[in-house]
Amino acid sequence: MRHRIPFLLLTALTACTTAPPSATAPGLTTATLAAPIPAATPVVAAKAMVVSAHPEATRIGVEILQKGGNAYDAAVAVQFALAVAFPVAGNIGGGGFLLYRGTDGQEGALDFRETAPAAASRDMYLDAQGNVIPNLSTRGHLAAGVPGTVAGMWVLHQKLGKLPWKDVVQPAVDLAAKGVVLTAKEAAGLNNTTFFTSDGGHIEWVKEAKEFSKHVALWIREVDSIGNGPVVVPPAQIAALYNPYKRPSSAWQPGDTLRLRTLAATLSRIRDQGKAGFYEGKTANLLVAEMQRGKGIITKQDLLKYEPKWRTPLHGRYRGYEVLTFPPPSSGGVALLQMLQMLEPYNLGRAGWHSPQATHWITEAQRRVYADRATYLGDPDFGKVPVPQLLEKDYNWRRMATTLPYRATPSAQVTAGANLPGYESDQTTHYNVVDAQGNAVSCTTTLNGAYGSKVVVAGAGFLLNNEMDDFSSKPGTPNSYGLVGGAANAIAPGKRMLSSMTPAILTRGKKLALVTGTPGGSTIITSVLQSILNVVDYGMNAQQAVAAPRLHHQWLPDQLDVEAGALLPAAQDTLRARGYILNPRNAWGRVEIIRVLPDGRLEGGADPRGDDAAAGY
Ligand code: DON
Repeated sequence: MRHRIPFLLLTALTACTTAPPSATAPGLTTATLAAPIPAATPVVAAKAMVVSAHPEATRIGVEILQKGGNAYDAAVAVQFALAVAFPVAGNIGGGGFLLYRGTDGQEGALDFRETAPAAASRDMYLDAQGNVIPNLSTRGHLAAGVPGTVAGMWVLHQKLGKLPWKDVVQPAVDLAAKGVVLTAKEAAGLNNTTFFTSDGGHIEWVKEAKEFSKHVALWIREVDSIGNGPVVVPPAQIAALYNPYKRPSSAWQPGDTLRLRTLAATLSRIRDQGKAGFYEGKTANLLVAEMQRGKGIITKQDLLKYEPKWRTPLHGRYRGYEVLTFPPPSSGGVALLQMLQMLEPYNLGRAGWHSPQATHWITEAQRRVYADRATYLGDPDFGKVPVPQLLEKDYNWRRMATTLPYRATPSAQVTAGANLPGYESDQTTHYNVVDAQGNAVSCTTTLNGAYGSKVVVAGAGFLLNNEMDDFSSKPGTPNSYGLVGGAANAIAPGKRMLSSMTPAILTRGKKLALVTGTPGGSTIITSVLQSILNVVDYGMNAQQAVAAPRLHHQWLPDQLDVEAGALLPAAQDTLRARGYILNPRNAWGRVEIIRVLPDGRLEGGADPRGDDAAAGY
């Protein structure tokens, strides 16, 4: 069907691109207020590439590819490696969405999102007066949904893996046993978090750190008292291993080794028994015992019943690219495609990167789409989500036709689009893999908040998610990302909580062009959008596209989040004069990109806001 740009929108477009904006600083055209695009150099590889949040996980992914594994084997290996090397978000106690496109054009969307336990109920986080009880859905045992990650990896591998399961899980077992050297960010993350388990109040890692200190102190005393006698462990070697001299207390220091022996044992059970190594037997018993001690509600039955789901990926188009992305229970794919439809008629390139005019159009699109998200999106297995209606071009263009040329539309005046059937820190991590055959994986996986619920399953050494907070505990009350929701995303037993995770794969002329995704809670959708615009509209390379400072608007609160360096001061003045409330905000998101160059080589962009790493061969 041919779509026509509505008359009102055309009028607005003409006005926007030809008339000088009234709120532009004197002597400057809108285009001169575009921000300079920072230089950045991507990693380039001839055949295959992995980008993830941790160099050890990236290394393990590349090694699996070099051993003859395909992109799906590498994805499983990276997922388990991140559970060890990046515990703030990498996980076996959480869930995620994995999107793939095979070199043969075959595609799939694997939903291993957590589910609400059978004993969950709509008002479980409300007090007797109907108010949300602070922290109940974000911290502790009651915040956890039934984990989906291990089942997800298992079915992915059964369908598409090439190497034996044991071989793709083993590197994570080895990594947990050997330990991971902490970066400054990771040490700070561990020190700033209060973990709790029911077996003494300390995460095993902290206990291990104390044990290290104790042993090291003993060794050192021994060495001292022995004087020139036989020395079993030379102090220099001890120092290199554990930094005992630098550590004033048991606080983690950069360079410390985080060794997760209990997790290594759990991963060995998963290696040997597959999915049953998590959902049955010893691991399941430990998880349920942890729940019982901590007044959580996940049962053995919940674990046994958990099933990942294959969903049909969503398709859209943007300036000659085919965009493949994730359907509900992600809200991200729908929102991304809506925003791309809304923005396609505008000449963003000519307006200039982060110019007031481009920012105006993009922000107005974001505002409208997040209003739709809050009303209509939820688990499609529990209610009708009007995806086809939301992805109608005419619908999205009509939404944009309500934008004002040089004024922000206050969010209070924006509601979800009408005429649809009546309904409704941030830590996660993303990785991409492209193998030598051209198979591509884009996967976002999460515990939700940093270290999830902060609950470590005693005796099993892994963290549980706090994904229940992604449900709408009470209509209109924002969750920890400031997102509001209603009936479509209310809690119900077995239901999947709405997500913003937006793995995306772009092709052009049936050839792989771009793999992208990011963590960042509510900001995920707008960061993925910007990664696409940065490449398609602004010609950035993969590293520039992930490094460039970002902007974000999510309808409510009515403010435009601005990362340092994202807007020129004069552009900020122009936007303020147009009625935008600017909110300077610390960096968010960790976008990872693989871009295919015209000659077939791969360009990797790893977000410099973290310790992320791209590597290939
Ligand atoms: O699924 C979601 O939308 C959230 N649980 C994602 C959380 C997240 O990205 C936190 N990360 N920075």
